[in-house]
Amino acid sequence: MNFSSSASMRNELDPDRLPKHVAIIMDGNGRWAKKRLLNRINGHEKGADAVRTIVKSARKFNIAALTLYAFSTENWQRPHAEISGLMLLLRRFLASERQTLVENEIRLNTIGQIERLPEAVRESLEAVMDATANNKKMVLNLALSYGARVEIVEMVKQIAAKTLNGAIDPAGITQKTVADHLYTRGMPDVDLLIRTSGEMRISNFLLWQIAYSEIFFTPTLWPDFGEDEFVAILNDYQHRERRFGAIPPT
Ligand code: IPE
Ligand code: IPE
Ligand code: MG
Repeated sequence: MNFSSSASMRNELDPDRLPKHVAIIMDGNGRWAKKRLLNRINGHEKGADAVRTIVKSARKFNIAALTLYAFSTENWQRPHAEISGLMLLLRRFLASERQTLVENEIRLNTIGQIERLPEAVRESLEAVMDATANNKKMVLNLALSYGARVEIVEMVKQIAAKTLNGAIDPAGITQKTVADHLYTRGMPDVDLLIRTSGEMRISNFLLWQIAYSEIFFTPTLWPDFGEDEFVAILNDYQHRERRFGAIPPT
């Protein structure tokens, strides 16, 4: 795809019609590496560079929340060497980006079964979350050991326990009760969901939160995804009519 016209597109973005919450399924690192006869880890390294770029872009366009699917509950099935390579990369990423996040007033947050991550990774995450805790301009949500079905099961368990101890009246359970017991509590719903690499599936990502998201699939492999394509997608998003089941005003 050619995104060379994006400099003008960037200027055309309407700041009042930008998504508040963008979520990305960053897929295709392995295929990117395979095409170059490289190791899958090399693909993940390049993928981390694309993350750096898109975090900066999202901040520049004043997007309030960016959620990145970095490691799923299903990804634990991958070979040990790939998993440990990814965990090492994550620690390196956190160390190298800490200052950028602080300077750009971005708060780091995680969603997923963080307790399953190696201790060294959890410590790196804690350190950056502490250093960025008071930042208000954007939240960067890293989905790590994340699975939407596990998230839903956890939500049900919490609500069930609260109904048993009387903290919640079952008859009073609303959509807000559910949303308040998900990892994403307090965040706006996802306005725009992007998946790279040409796969047309959700792969157990944010099932509740994408109920009314605009979805954009691109064949670009994640390491090749850059600001120009991001801007083109934001532009496309701004030209969609979000009706939410209603009839547009005439
Ligand atoms: C996405 O790239 C990154 C993770 C899932 C961790 P993949 O590793 O899934 O790359 P492909 O899909 O094999 O190309
Ligand atoms: C989804 O990609 C998970 C992440 C991007 C972290 P996968 O490559 O794991 O998903 P499938 O196997 O194509 O469904
Ligand atoms: Mg994949």
